[in-house]
Amino acid sequence: MFKCLLVDKDDNGYRTSCTQLNEDDLKQGNVLVKVQYSSLNYKDALAITGKAPVIRSFPMIPGIDFSGVVEQSDSDEFKVGDKVLLNGFGVGEKYMGGLSQKAKVNSDWLIALPEDMSPLQAMSIGTAGYTAMLCILALEKYGITPKSGKIIVTGASGGVGSFAVKLLALMGYSVVASTGSSDQHDYLYDLGATEIIDRAELSAPGKALMKEQWAGAIDSVGSHTLANVCASIKYGGAVAACGLAQGMDLPASVAPFILRGVSLLGIDSVMRARADRVVAWQKLAELLPASEMQSIAEVIGLEQSIEAASKLLNGEITGRVVVDVNN
Ligand SMILES: NC(=O)c1ccc[n+]([C@@H]2O[C@H](COP(=O)([O-])OP(=O)(O)OC[C@H]3O[C@@H](n4cnc5c(N)ncnc54)[C@H](OP(=O)(O)O)[C@@H]3O)[C@@H](O)[C@H]2O)c1
Repeated sequence: MFKCLLVDKDDNGYRTSCTQLNEDDLKQGNVLVKVQYSSLNYKDALAITGKAPVIRSFPMIPGIDFSGVVEQSDSDEFKVGDKVLLNGFGVGEKYMGGLSQKAKVNSDWLIALPEDMSPLQAMSIGTAGYTAMLCILALEKYGITPKSGKIIVTGASGGVGSFAVKLLALMGYSVVASTGSSDQHDYLYDLGATEIIDRAELSAPGKALMKEQWAGAIDSVGSHTLANVCASIKYGGAVAACGLAQGMDLPASVAPFILRGVSLLGIDSVMRARADRVVAWQKLAELLPASEMQSIAEVIGLEQSIEAASKLLNGEITGRVVVDVNN
């Protein structure tokens, strides 16, 4: 038996509890992992509270990411004792997830934990840091460098945004943070932002083309914000778009793309190819040693994550919430 969170939905309603399951309840996969840490992401909070239909089949263990040690393996790629890490692939949505002491998953969803990264460090970075790194790597692949000019990060005080600001600054970029959280300015400067703008400057309907300001952007907000960011990118620049905190719509014109050669780079972390994951996590290990992560992550127990999910959706949490599933 092992301890886990379990989300269920039936005639009695939608509910999440901390319970015990048997290994036989884990039907998917060829590698059994003894999970050490998971983390609480926006998607997990939606799954735990039922605020949005994230879960595709019930009952379900939530948790879209985890780190741990291989306990049994029918795969040639991983052996017992290997330290591993997982993000996405429908885990915690379609397949039993990481907010659990055990997880059974397909071997090709796992990657080896980078050598110099601990399981706690990995989940302190979690899907937010990994997605921010995918955005940065996309901008760099496009040809953007610190010499290209300033990079704007929207939703800057959020999970993805905070990591984007910090990582860009560590990589030598000049970072403009767009935020609606006036109480987070010191936090954003501490992360490495060189300039802060009020998100209200970007969130209302704007013109098809606006003053050219930034060489690139990482946008976790979507909607008018993304449209205005595209309209304000310098000739030949690019925007990495990964989120929809303002909305899923994109009320934009093609003008920035056809008149300024701006590119919109879509970022999905869930189904991303393993080779890209390995590169992103290796780069994260280089840039974010454990000492960098202590001030960002709060560690809570499995049962506490039910209450923390509501707080996260109410905007009452700053930084990353890591879940010690054995506590
Ligand atoms: N593509 C992928 O694979 C992927 C992976 C991870 C996350 N995501 C998506 O990326 C987005 C950010 O995720 P996250 O974990 O960073 O979430 P988060 O921690 O909730 O951060 C979102 C931030 O967006 C800003 N914001 C919130 N509501 C807004 C609004 N109405 N208008 C403008 N800005 C608003 C806030 O920042 P300020 O207060 O600083 O303005 C907030 O902190 C989400 O939509 C998430 O679903 C996508």
